[in-house]
Amino acid sequence: MKKKKLWGGRFEKSTHCLVEEFTESISFDNILYKYDIMGSIAHCRMLAKQKIIAVKDSKVIIRALKEIEKEIESGKLVLDPKFEDIHTLIESRLIKKIGPVGGKLHTARSRNDQVALDVNLYLKDGIKEVVSLIGEVRLELVNLAEKNLDAMIPGFTHLQHAQPVLFAHHLMAYNEMFKRDFERMRCCYGRVNRMPLGAGALAGTPYPVDRGYVAELLGYPCVTENSMDTVADRDGLIEFCSAASILMMHLSRFCEELILWSSPEFQFVEISDAFCTGSSIMPQKKNPDIPELVRGKTGRVYGNLMSLLTLMKSLPMSYNRDLQEDKQPLFDTVDTVRKCLKVFSAMLPEIKVNGAAMLNAAKNGFLTATDLADYLVKKGMPFRNAHEVVGSIVTYCIRKEKTLDLLTIAEFKSFSPEIEKDVFSCLSLSASINSRKSEGATGLTPVKKAIAKAKNDLKKKKK
Ligand code: ARG
Repeated sequence: MKKKKLWGGRFEKSTHCLVEEFTESISFDNILYKYDIMGSIAHCRMLAKQKIIAVKDSKVIIRALKEIEKEIESGKLVLDPKFEDIHTLIESRLIKKIGPVGGKLHTARSRNDQVALDVNLYLKDGIKEVVSLIGEVRLELVNLAEKNLDAMIPGFTHLQHAQPVLFAHHLMAYNEMFKRDFERMRCCYGRVNRMPLGAGALAGTPYPVDRGYVAELLGYPCVTENSMDTVADRDGLIEFCSAASILMMHLSRFCEELILWSSPEFQFVEISDAFCTGSSIMPQKKNPDIPELVRGKTGRVYGNLMSLLTLMKSLPMSYNRDLQEDKQPLFDTVDTVRKCLKVFSAMLPEIKVNGAAMLNAAKNGFLTATDLADYLVKKGMPFRNAHEVVGSIVTYCIRKEKTLDLLTIAEFKSFSPEIEKDVFSCLSLSASINSRKSEGATGLTPVKKAIAKAKNDLKKKKK
């Protein structure tokens, strides 16, 4: 006789081999094994507490489940695709080990709410790890900013020189982005932190279960509220992948800048040899592969988000087998984001900052032209006129191949008699930067304040 599936009671023919191969998910959902066992142990304890199964049976089941966990970890238990998924494998193994009593574990439970629970436990761990890794990137970022408080760079708009800024200020802009990522992940965690088990296949269960007890055993503050929504909902995965996509977008922007900055045209930074690779043909090459790959991996995280959104679009209630396709995009996102954040925070402290090259670049492009206009405003000229006058001065400088600070007083006066010798003090980069003392500005004082605030913030989060 053919071996029956766990659900094979009403089937007369055995499954086609192509169908087995097509429907199996064990090849990727096996990473859920420890959550499956954790969830089953909690479920089993609850069944015993509620007298749905005998306490002695629950003890036998729990002991066997713990053994199965070890068998999977040691590789002793083979992940055979004929078991469909990890949940079926574990249950089959349980019944094989302890006999029919193992069949009592699935009382008051369906694979639908079981999968919802296992994926939810996985997701919660994934979010926690990502949150902590974002904290590490932020810490390295803030350290790099603090170590380079004297470096000045051209601030860009339209990728054209705009106004001088502290390099630290530019770095701290990313701290803000990552702070928002951090908050988004935490909010997402708050929303997914509801225990799904007890929803059954879709309609709940007639057994006198205590869902709150299972929640407590598994560290959840509450349970999900509608059994149909519980087995059909994948919002948490989508929210996580969406937050992860935004995070990757931020990382990709930073990577893009690191790639530009380490090019010979910029030379603002040097990425350590340990984080670069060479070319198989050009011996002189040192390529910024890490930022390039992080930039590239952003695309696959966006792709995962799109997969999930498309998977869920127009899906009728409640559980549909389509939902099995939620796993790879989620697992791949957790994996990719984890790897990117880890390598990124390892790379940051090894970045060498070339203050001289930054300064050189900042000397070009009339970065203090706005400061000159503000100077004229202080002398009583309306800003629009000042803007016009400085525009003509810049055109003159371009023609004469001079920078603003190299003009003579006589040259300045030919544009506006209001200009005096004190003009030179507003034309230096550091004067321009430090005059910007407003909250969130690039002056040394507000930047130091931002760094101190971030450090304090990160210290609190560690606790
Ligand atoms: N492997 C399936 C999944 O991940 C398990 C749920 C199966 N439920 C069912 N009714 N066939 O979604």
